[in-house]
Amino acid sequence: MAIMSPVVDVHTHIYPPAYVSLLRSRSAVPYMRTFPDNPEAGERLVILPSEDAATSTARGRPIGPEYYEEEEKIKFMDQHNIDISVISLANPWLDWCEPADAPEAAKQINDDVEAVCARHPGRLYAFGTLPLSAGAPAVVEEIKRLQSLKHMRGVIIGTSGLGAGLDDPALHPIWQALQETKQLVFLHPHYGLPTSVYGDRAADYGHVLPLALGFPLETTISITRAILSGVFDTFSSLQILLAHSGGTLPFLAGRIESCIKHDGHLKSAGKIEGRKSVWDILKSNIYLDAVVYGDAGLKAAVEASGSDRLMFGTDHPFFPPLEEGEKEWLSVRTNAEAVKSVFGVKEAEDVMGGNAVRVLRLNE
Ligand code: URA
Ligand code: ZN
Repeated sequence: MAIMSPVVDVHTHIYPPAYVSLLRSRSAVPYMRTFPDNPEAGERLVILPSEDAATSTARGRPIGPEYYEEEEKIKFMDQHNIDISVISLANPWLDWCEPADAPEAAKQINDDVEAVCARHPGRLYAFGTLPLSAGAPAVVEEIKRLQSLKHMRGVIIGTSGLGAGLDDPALHPIWQALQETKQLVFLHPHYGLPTSVYGDRAADYGHVLPLALGFPLETTISITRAILSGVFDTFSSLQILLAHSGGTLPFLAGRIESCIKHDGHLKSAGKIEGRKSVWDILKSNIYLDAVVYGDAGLKAAVEASGSDRLMFGTDHPFFPPLEEGEKEWLSVRTNAEAVKSVFGVKEAEDVMGGNAVRVLRLNE
């Protein structure tokens, strides 16, 4: 009988103890705090500047043990038949950290996460955190150090890079180190789009506009800038896993490629011929998670990158059920059902875990 692949969640976050201590010690975004005047509000997490605008306990979102306790992660995995999780620090990572503090903070967070994984053999692996605000040499040093941590399989980064986006030439030593050490880069959004694009009534719609549209467009813009700047021509074996099935990249790849081919500025700069096309990059440098919540998005993703480059994820602990006591997460079920509906048995097994085991060497 064929041995089934384990189910692997490649998009699942945690705030480990070292990061929680940092958040609790702060009073500017990002921070965690309680409101003594309103104990019922519990502890709240404020990570987006727009969430900090309110003067009341409506600030941010409630944060509970599911964000920072490893046993909650394991419980969630067991409840949803997830065999292995590749955990990553949630946004906004260390993007905000004072440069002088960032290398030590990254070390502590990575050591914490490594220890969490080691306490659950065979169940947990991780993507490391980088001290990006400290600049390229410190980042490269941590990338190299991550190789000595047994459960690390890559790194998570936001779209700002060293502060100037992913088309910044100052990132080249970092791409080089990641390529050399064969670490997968998990690219994840945080900043969204300028709030002005959401209009005057945005607050009436909760977090829907920034999360449903801001996040995916942020990812799309940042990876497109990396592509346009030639990152994948220079670092031809660099591998990037894009959150939320690439934002809208699979759907827009044809349009982006066409705009490149019709651009007079790029033509006169000699940048149209001899480059890797967006389609080539999708099939040789990009992996996509399957966190897209529907068949249409998943079909665009598989059409763009191939079923061997697609990996199941949950985005836990974000998007919990709104009903108290509800054990099954709708967000997880919706993504798992889309995989079942779009793929045959073999491909579904690859997407649910086989690809992650192969790409992230989870059987070593
Ligand atoms: N909201 C966040 O801030 N981060 C996620 O990863 C998902 C939702
Ligand atoms: Zn996420």
